[in-house]
Amino acid sequence: MPALAAPAADLRTALERAADYPRLRYMGSKYKLAPALAQVFRDLGGETFLDAFSGSGFVGYLAKSMGYAVTSNDYMGYGRAIASAAIGASEPLLSPDLIEQITGPAADDRSFIQDTFENVFFTADDRKFLDSAWSHIDSLDGHTKDAALAALILSAARKQPRGVFTISGDLSHYDDGRRDLRLPMREHFIEHAAAYNRIAFDNKRDHQAFKGDALELEKTAYDVVYLDPPYAPPSDDADYTKRYHFLEGLSDYWAAGEIMEHTKTKKIPKRHSAFASKRTAAEALRATFEKFSDAGALVVSYSSNSVPGMDWMIAELGKVKASVEVHKIPHTYSFGTHGTALRRQAHEYIFVAKD
Ligand SMILES: C[S@@+](CC[C@H](N)C(=O)[O-])C[C@H]1O[C@@H](n2cnc3c(N)ncnc32)[C@H](O)[C@@H]1O
Repeated sequence: MPALAAPAADLRTALERAADYPRLRYMGSKYKLAPALAQVFRDLGGETFLDAFSGSGFVGYLAKSMGYAVTSNDYMGYGRAIASAAIGASEPLLSPDLIEQITGPAADDRSFIQDTFENVFFTADDRKFLDSAWSHIDSLDGHTKDAALAALILSAARKQPRGVFTISGDLSHYDDGRRDLRLPMREHFIEHAAAYNRIAFDNKRDHQAFKGDALELEKTAYDVVYLDPPYAPPSDDADYTKRYHFLEGLSDYWAAGEIMEHTKTKKIPKRHSAFASKRTAAEALRATFEKFSDAGALVVSYSSNSVPGMDWMIAELGKVKASVEVHKIPHTYSFGTHGTALRRQAHEYIFVAKD
């Protein structure tokens, strides 16, 4: 593999850049693993990078900061929008005039969010702002639209207690005075728009962000393929739709129109993922390893309390690559969706498979 654009001396700069990433509180996000991942990527080198389960978009942005041409993918639309905003923008895209327009009077009289989520999420003013902001965002396109969407998605996530949309109604008992919960949605948007402008930079490479199932990705020989699938727990499954359905709807203004009216939080139907359930995760992972067997290296994140386990991973990765290294990093997880969520100590594995 050719040497990567980010030599050792630049690793610190890349990590400093990534530290400014506008963080979404997101199940399974890898902010804390940045130093370990950056070290692994630097040692591997190469020029092209796939982040196949991009989530908050952070790892793809770290890879961009290290000089890679990044392709990112997630099966959630908010994941695509955020990654496109963060990785695709080579210069600040949200001008002061545009921010003023989006936060100004509405361009039309749409009220879907106000009507659907009354007494479910946010205050009346905040819901009105979301409808109004979308009335402007609707007429944007390309990376500028994605940057505005990313700022709006982050605003909604930060304003919601614990960042998950499984809880609704009167959430005043979550109000511990934290600024994020008190700040009006409009002010959130102005701050996050500035944050996305700040992290925009040009690393002189082309980047792409897709929305789709990782199993359907094209077979391409990337230098580094990073796989951070949902961790299939031994019981239950890792359901992103349940937790983040509002962000998903917000990413395209509920274009599919598939609200489940009888649900308390007005969810959209669960999006199936073969990676998220213990019955199907092993087969889905095996197919993905096989698909990317021509990659320079496969880097896989997985947790010690998920199935299939470490031995299975080493054996299966060993079928497509000559050597498999394991990095083991202590990590504390939160389980459950209540304030009293259990905190459990686990290990975060990084498997590095290469020829
Ligand atoms: C552990 S998270 C990734 C976290 C990410 N690395 C970060 O730092 O934020 C797993 C992601 O996989 C996505 N996902 C689940 N099933 C998928 C599938 N079949 N294809 C693509 N993405 C999927 C989820 O939407 C979620 O964002």
